[in-house]
Amino acid sequence: MKKQPLFPVLNGLLHGGDYNPDQWLDRPDILAQDIEYMKKAGINCVSLGIFSWSSYEPREGEYHFEWLKNVMDTLYANGIYTILATPSGAKPAWLDRKYPDCLRVDNMGIRYHHGDRHNYCMSSENFRGKLKNINSMLAQRFAHHPGLLMWHISNEMGGDCFCPLCQQKFVEYLRNKFDNDIEKLNKAWWTTFWSHKYSCFEEIEPPFANGSIDIMGLMLEWRRFTTWNMIDCMKSEIEVVKAANPDIPVTANLMNMYNGLDYRALAKEIDVVSWDSYPRFHNDWESFDDTMRELAYSHAVFRCLKKDKPFMLMECTPSLTNWQAYNKLKRPGVMRLQAVQAVATGSDTVQYFQIRKSRGSFEQYHGAVIDHAGIDNRVFREVSEVGDILKKIDSVAGTKVNAKAALLFDWDNRWAIQDMQAMCVADKKYEKTLVDFWREFNRCGAEVDVISSLDDFSDYKIIIAPMLYILHPGVAQRLTEFVKNGGQLLATYLTGYTDENLLCHLGGFPGDNLSDLFGIYSEEMDTLFPSDRNGIKFRGFENKIEVFDCCEILKVKDAEVIGRYTDDFYKDTPAITVKCFGDGSAYYVAARTKASDLAPIFEQMIKNAGIMPNVMPPMIDYHERVADGEVYRFYLNLSDKENCVADVKGYDLISEKEICGTLTLSGYGTAVVKNIK
Ligand code: GLA
Ligand code: ZN
Repeated sequence: MKKQPLFPVLNGLLHGGDYNPDQWLDRPDILAQDIEYMKKAGINCVSLGIFSWSSYEPREGEYHFEWLKNVMDTLYANGIYTILATPSGAKPAWLDRKYPDCLRVDNMGIRYHHGDRHNYCMSSENFRGKLKNINSMLAQRFAHHPGLLMWHISNEMGGDCFCPLCQQKFVEYLRNKFDNDIEKLNKAWWTTFWSHKYSCFEEIEPPFANGSIDIMGLMLEWRRFTTWNMIDCMKSEIEVVKAANPDIPVTANLMNMYNGLDYRALAKEIDVVSWDSYPRFHNDWESFDDTMRELAYSHAVFRCLKKDKPFMLMECTPSLTNWQAYNKLKRPGVMRLQAVQAVATGSDTVQYFQIRKSRGSFEQYHGAVIDHAGIDNRVFREVSEVGDILKKIDSVAGTKVNAKAALLFDWDNRWAIQDMQAMCVADKKYEKTLVDFWREFNRCGAEVDVISSLDDFSDYKIIIAPMLYILHPGVAQRLTEFVKNGGQLLATYLTGYTDENLLCHLGGFPGDNLSDLFGIYSEEMDTLFPSDRNGIKFRGFENKIEVFDCCEILKVKDAEVIGRYTDDFYKDTPAITVKCFGDGSAYYVAARTKASDLAPIFEQMIKNAGIMPNVMPPMIDYHERVADGEVYRFYLNLSDKENCVADVKGYDLISEKEICGTLTLSGYGTAVVKNIK
């Protein structure tokens, strides 16, 4: 594996954040001072112009770029690079007033008023035209600026639009997808049900809230379409900036586990993946340890959108947010822990929202590197400490996380499960289940990627596939091959119910012949009320584990039963099975349990796979980055108390000490131990 730093000019990791100098153009003293503060905090890059359209073009056709040039020049002269945004994140008022079709229409058919942000119609030619114009002007002026590091396309793209233009585009999209054959669509969506048959494509409407929300195939296709249309609009932005200088990479800042767009499709069109991370630390529903490991899971999701290179932590708050229900301060040391964890899991950047607090309006109380009062405060000191650490570990830049296990997660599977009219309709807990499995495999000592069922499996020895409800064409065969060649596979209840259009597989679940691989089929699905419980007793053990939410009742064909239900009318019937197939094994877990209760199975799978587990003491999060024969071992203390790890050997880049034996970490302390493989 070769090192591949995202930004060779930086000679290390990027430390930066969103900066809005256009809010302070009448205060050159503040702008000048900000640069001094940034240097003090070890900031080497800022993101500019994210919401600057009305500063660039205050009236249609009147342009002001001189301020940006001054700011970029001065930053560059001070060793600070720029990530420049295209300004589509928010529209100027004149645009919406003159071209109302730039405004979105909601799912009741009501057009938005001007305001807020992230709400342009992706289909409006007026919008695209005006955007192209402003983007071309920016690109012509700045695409060759020596301080320009990358383009940041728009901001947190999301949402959908139900306007007549988008409706029409949806119809065209469907026509194309179903080969202009309405009967093909009728069949795929099973529209004879409730007399929903269409006689032509023009009759199809998007799923308005008071319209066709009962056709599963339509609901799913609307989300695929919205992804497609958003990407199409994003590509029109990328085209403009790439035409001016193809060497400048582009990114788009994604949102944690955002539901509205298939990020895997989107990621294919950008050079680097970046994401904005706002976890609720020290909340009142889970342990800090769980929050941190869930955060590591999210990093894995984004890392694996582009597995061949590092990702970017584009935004996080240095202290608090202002928009969550409860805006708690980050506890001392947590920013540092979060920063080192981001790098540990594959990020080459730590960036904040925001560098300086805005004086007024919606985000005036959101955390920032530079506060209204200045920099003599805890937050600035902690950010500066992060800056120092990032310098100490800069040789990590460009290395990679090398996981041998993968968890399958598909966006359309998620959408289908949400819409599915079965189980506990309101919440099937797909996302929670994914996190739960990921976290427990990690605690058992395996690094886990998060990939699509359509991705290549050949890098992996373990595949974890919770609730793989949709089986895309070829997936069942590829999973079968995987196990045959020695892979360890784990699937659960709700596997393989439908095809990619949400038509049920006939002949028993899991469908598409997967029931042969597991040696079982699922005969019925029982949904439990919230306080109902069942249990599973493992073969040969007295203790039972708890079962909640859902239980499939299995028929075993030729699998080995390792756990049986303890209660109810299906007491003693199989709940967990394994089938050895070829050189591998296929585990099936038919009921929902805490993933931690399945740890013995995970450990067995890790062992079967021949992976050397990195088992850590409680409250230690561990990750590795490798390249060019170097190994960086990241030890993160998730406890606020001192914590130790035995048998550590190498040089800790943070404490700058040789470690041979026990590594002692202070509360929320971190170590990055380097050695040669
Ligand atoms: C998002 C946005 C930023 C800012 C932050 C506040 O991530 O991209 O512009 O609003 O939230 O947390
Ligand atoms: Zn629209």
